[in-house]
Amino acid sequence: MKLRSALMAFGAAVVMTGTAHAANLSIVSGDTGNGLAVLREKLDIYEKTSGNKVTIVPMPSSTTDQFGQYKLWLAAGNSDIDVYQTDVIWAPQLAEQLVDLTEATKDVIGQHFPSIVQSQTVNGKLVAMPLFTDAPALYYRKDLLEKYGKTAPKTWAELAATAKEIQDKERAAGAKDLWGFVWQGNAYEGLTCNALEWVMSYGGGQIVEPDGEISINNPQAVAAIEEAKSWVNTISPPGVLAYQEEEARGVWQTGNAVFMRNWPYAYSLGEGADSAIKGKFDVAPLPAGTGDKARSAATLGGWNLAVSKYSKNQKEAIDLVKFLTSKEMQKKQAIEASNLPTIIDLYDDAEIAKAVPIIPRWKDVFLNAVPRPSAPTKVKYNEVSSNFWTAVHNSLAGSGTTADNLELLEAQLTKLKGNGW
Ligand code: GLC
Repeated sequence: MKLRSALMAFGAAVVMTGTAHAANLSIVSGDTGNGLAVLREKLDIYEKTSGNKVTIVPMPSSTTDQFGQYKLWLAAGNSDIDVYQTDVIWAPQLAEQLVDLTEATKDVIGQHFPSIVQSQTVNGKLVAMPLFTDAPALYYRKDLLEKYGKTAPKTWAELAATAKEIQDKERAAGAKDLWGFVWQGNAYEGLTCNALEWVMSYGGGQIVEPDGEISINNPQAVAAIEEAKSWVNTISPPGVLAYQEEEARGVWQTGNAVFMRNWPYAYSLGEGADSAIKGKFDVAPLPAGTGDKARSAATLGGWNLAVSKYSKNQKEAIDLVKFLTSKEMQKKQAIEASNLPTIIDLYDDAEIAKAVPIIPRWKDVFLNAVPRPSAPTKVKYNEVSSNFWTAVHNSLAGSGTTADNLELLEAQLTKLKGNGW
């Protein structure tokens, strides 16, 4: 009832702000898990209250694939797409082709975490509205850890030892397909996220520091990537070097992994009626590395909604973005897709906490998460990241030594930086 009256009020507000005639809008989005299905549900509500029609243009779930396509469309001035779902790292690279949302959202922007709003603000322009934020978790099988008298590992070394012991014993007892640890090793943006976590957890820096210094070629970074390499084909399947989020979740959710690194979206799916691990898992922060500066590190992720400068329905598109990022819709998305809200109050919402306990628990994790160096490297971020994930992927696959690969990476980044980012 509360939701319905809020939606009616929202519908009235849309009419009052002057949506004169019905528009046909299109929104382009890739997503993981049930993301697109939940988006469709929200759009169905929007269509009823606004009278507008909205088509989803579905994309692959890889952010790297999406980015490549969106760059091309925007460069060509494509007016078929009104709204883009954008990754947190893209704001500086796409800013010029997106509408400034500052004025239109000034009544609601204060509800969101200032740091997230900041990440989507480029030279004073709000280029996208926060939809949900992201910070990964170490998913672990409570039942298996209990069976072998283990607790959630605090270091990567402990994770590897626990994973190996449980994997070996369970396989011997007949669970032939069980692996210790699944994560995202494909050569794409997701590997940048995973590897930044390893490197930071060893005190090896952020690839490029907030002041623009290229820091990646250092012994802690080498040690961190070498440790990850030691997992491949021991506790992680050889195929992990081709895994993205959904491949990792596939192994995990069928009960074939002791540990998984993944984003919160995997939580509600893991608790779903058709999940083999329903009621059998919990989450913990990612493990720390070793050494003086060891810490647990999570890469900051998240998604936003932006209006294309080439949209012929900008006014309606902005209304749609405001609807989808509203408190009611973020709450629905939190409960149904276990996405972390960007609206501060929702972390105190009892219904969310009950339905998806990871959400209130993950507030501090995302607030302390490490950003990828998209702010300091600006329009060159995508190249920085692809050089990084390539160096890491080569190292994991045994193509060149990690030390040599990071040295080459440093040279590539130095060239890319030129006289400044
Ligand atoms: C998640 C994050 C996003 C990141 C992507 C990498 O979707 O929210 O920021 O780029 O994973 O695969």
